[in-house]
Amino acid sequence: MMFSDTTLALFAKEVAKYPADQKVSAVMACLAIIQHEQGHVSPESEEALGAVLGMAPIAVHEVTTFYNMYNQQAVGSYKLNVCTNLPCQLRDGDKALDHVCKRLGVEPYGTTADGKITVQPSECLGACADAPVLLVNDRQMLSFMSNDKLDELLAMLKADHA
Ligand code: FES
Repeated sequence: MMFSDTTLALFAKEVAKYPADQKVSAVMACLAIIQHEQGHVSPESEEALGAVLGMAPIAVHEVTTFYNMYNQQAVGSYKLNVCTNLPCQLRDGDKALDHVCKRLGVEPYGTTADGKITVQPSECLGACADAPVLLVNDRQMLSFMSNDKLDELLAMLKADHA
């Protein structure tokens, strides 16, 4: 078993919120716990969580890949999700992603050599009118990100003053 007793206890708390035959409803909360503790959700943890909840690993994987906030691989201290969905694409979302990648010298989904910043394209973040938009660490939404504003942000993150 790859989870600590503490983690299992946190799972149990989530599972207890649902009727006994609906344990699977706790899957998102449990994935969030895994990510909080391990930084990302590996195939091994998907499988182990499936065993806890009585779900096929592929069903857990479908949840992990459907939502932006679950990291499939280890990510840097800062995760930047740049929206490249169509409405944003039409308003420079792609260019914003390109710009960030070039400035950091990484490919999309890449992490800087110092392990600090990961850049990912993202599906719609629900702020299409504010394009280009990006989300920092699944929490902080930044709008109208011109190249100048992106440069400012990257400088701040590199200096760790975000
Ligand atoms: S398409 Fe980018 S926020 Fe909606």
